[in-house]
Amino acid sequence: MSTTLDRREFLKKVAATGLAGSLAGVVSTGCHQQRANLPALLWPDRPRDLVRVGFVGIGNMGRGHIENLLRIEGCQIAAVCDILPERAQWARQRIIDSGQPEPKVYGQRGERDFQRLCQQEDLDLVYTATPWQWHTPICVAAMANGKHAACEVPIATTLDECWQLVETSQRYKRYCVMMENCCYDRIEMAVLNMVRQGLFGQLLHAECGYLHDLRELKLSPTYYQGMWRLKYAIHRNGNPYPTHGIGPVAWCMDILRGDRFEYLVSMSTKSIGLNLYAKARYPQWADQRFKLGDINTTLIHTALGKTIIVKHDTHLPRPYSRDFLIQGTRGLVRKYPQPLIYIEGEGASDQWQPFAKYLEGYEHPVWEALNKQAQGAGHGGMDFIEDYRLIQALRKGVPPDIDVYDSVTWSAIFPLSERSVAARGRPVAFPDFTGGKWGSARPLGVFEHQL
Ligand SMILES: NC(=O)c1ccc[n+]([C@@H]2O[C@H](COP(=O)([O-])OP(=O)(O)OC[C@H]3O[C@@H](n4cnc5c(N)ncnc54)[C@H](O)[C@@H]3O)[C@@H](O)[C@H]2O)c1
Repeated sequence: MSTTLDRREFLKKVAATGLAGSLAGVVSTGCHQQRANLPALLWPDRPRDLVRVGFVGIGNMGRGHIENLLRIEGCQIAAVCDILPERAQWARQRIIDSGQPEPKVYGQRGERDFQRLCQQEDLDLVYTATPWQWHTPICVAAMANGKHAACEVPIATTLDECWQLVETSQRYKRYCVMMENCCYDRIEMAVLNMVRQGLFGQLLHAECGYLHDLRELKLSPTYYQGMWRLKYAIHRNGNPYPTHGIGPVAWCMDILRGDRFEYLVSMSTKSIGLNLYAKARYPQWADQRFKLGDINTTLIHTALGKTIIVKHDTHLPRPYSRDFLIQGTRGLVRKYPQPLIYIEGEGASDQWQPFAKYLEGYEHPVWEALNKQAQGAGHGGMDFIEDYRLIQALRKGVPPDIDVYDSVTWSAIFPLSERSVAARGRPVAFPDFTGGKWGSARPLGVFEHQL
């Protein structure tokens, strides 16, 4: 069964929605340049019918990814690894029950047992959904042993780790992909489509973030394995989780495809929310000193003069939001608390319009092709779409949608914001992980490959 469009159909659809310009390297946002300049930041790989996956970290997210991968044609989970034996065994049984051969099980030898998986198994991809401190070590071990690496967010928590990932990916010519599911949500994809068609004119500003009341989950002794997430709240202050917000914005703003993050400034409020919550429910944490400010606000300036506000807000009572506002010379769109749009000359002046009125004609062909198959999967289906596109890219031997440069540039906001907060909001420059190649138009997979 093929739920995707075939190549000809995809290109027709792309042309019909006005995206053909991007395929030819000429786009409406003004910061793409000729495809002829394509830097050697990407390389094709050999196509393969079957993608053999080793999966490390089978907790809340890991379980969801395993369910997705078992539904994807041409994907076999050949090895699993978790330091908790019951989780590894759950995955083993689930894989057998789905009709796939019994996978090899790792994790019995402790936190570094992923190294044996990377060294001993014949795999195409190692996929990681562990706590953050293991992301880079596992991706590096995978690539150094000839496997592509995919990883939950953020892929790195220090600048050293960011560089290590870039250098290892370049040295071994292995893909290194941060799995940012929010890039594949319906509205973000439709807005990206609108941006490419010039609906908002020239982009100038965006707002985004991760605004999610995680007090119960962080303080609960059983939700995150070993309470790993709380440790980051104790020890670090900045924006530790920027990628859900910044990923879709970076795609809209052609970051590393014509523009780049130049510098940021960042400030945090004091920390009080977790202590107040703990007093009532987890008194053992009531007097703990948490470094992470309850609200972190980071402001990024791009080389071409755009600004982006990125927020992190997980210690206070509030409804879920990723903010997601995109503004240009013709109008703007916002997703939360409900999707609204304003385009100059359309509708009443000064009044928001319902976004739904604009959705028709702007649905992204990738979302349209996979939406039905994705229904019921995690986070409204976007988790399935990201997993599907990763596996199909590897089957076809084309670069995945998110590459190592995107992955580390988005993740670097954590350590950079931390530096700025510590220096009373001083500007901090972004490293250029592309070695000066950010200004050339690198194709964006969701406009390039129908998969
Ligand atoms: N994309 C999203 O929407 C989304 C949502 C939630 C979490 N996440 C990310 O997913 C990752 C996992 O989060 P979670 O909520 O599933 O956490 P979790 O604590 O539920 O799961 C982590 C798993 O990793 C295992 N583990 C820990 N160290 C290990 C090691 N060295 N080797 C092998 N296994 C190890 C743990 O035993 C546990 O089963 C995090 O990076 C988080 O940021 C992403």
